[in-house]
Amino acid sequence: MDLNEKCILVVGGSGVLGGELVKILSTKGARVLATARTAETAQHIPDQAQLKLLVDLGDSASIRVLTDYLSANEPIDGIILAAGRVGFGVAAETSEGDVSTLTQVNFLGQAQLLTALTQSLKGREDAFVAAITGVVAEKSFPGMSAYSASKSALSAWLGSVAMEWRRDKIRVMDLRPGHTETGLATRPLFGNAPQMPTGMSPEHVAQAIVSAIESGATVVSSAEF
Ligand SMILES: NC(=O)c1ccc[n+]([C@@H]2O[C@H](COP(=O)([O-])OP(=O)(O)OC[C@H]3O[C@@H](n4cnc5c(N)ncnc54)[C@H](OP(=O)(O)O)[C@@H]3O)[C@@H](O)[C@H]2O)c1
Repeated sequence: MDLNEKCILVVGGSGVLGGELVKILSTKGARVLATARTAETAQHIPDQAQLKLLVDLGDSASIRVLTDYLSANEPIDGIILAAGRVGFGVAAETSEGDVSTLTQVNFLGQAQLLTALTQSLKGREDAFVAAITGVVAEKSFPGMSAYSASKSALSAWLGSVAMEWRRDKIRVMDLRPGHTETGLATRPLFGNAPQMPTGMSPEHVAQAIVSAIESGATVVSSAEF
């Protein structure tokens, strides 16, 4: 697909991968809308974004405000979910509250947002939704049970809606990059990151995501990054 003049929402445009995506999509001629969680972090959204919006995926009322606004005001062609948190620690020492928060931010909130915007995407040529789930959707790691479960849940959900939304001509993409040097692991919701080998560069991963969008891909496995 040609991204020129498409209207693309990047959820998590204040993050490292999201920010790279905003910049690349803008160079392709897309009109990019980007979100952050707070007014303070919205300052990290690259200036190339044409509209900066707020949404907290941990708060269903906040998601509703965003989706109502977009449905009424913006003819969106594509959505990229580049927002999420990580948490570390063995399962026995991870609190129910932490599991619940991570599940809300990484799965339930993202599913709510996409579901609410499907009506807007219907009928748009080359409509797509893309979520960065990660390699944890393919393979579990010790000390990351809550993160792996939240991302695997989103991945499984995407697999189902990919079939349901095909009739509405909405392409669903599940993007599963491995460890990337964005600093995400240094900002965990809980716990401490284990030692990890050097990851991929954010520029490489963002470029691979945009190429996958352009090529019509659906699932992009960790091996393909
Ligand atoms: N880095 C990796 O190794 C890697 C590998 C595979 C998958 N991923 C996934 O890629 C996505 C982007 O991560 P990143 O590495 O670019 O990390 P990042 O730089 O920390 O970006 C995270 C983004 O998520 C947003 N966010 C966090 N909590 C949120 C909430 N409650 N509501 C709304 N937005 C929220 C942040 O917004 P604020 O800045 O406003 O807080 C930020 O824009 C995540 O889903 C992550 O799990 C990352």
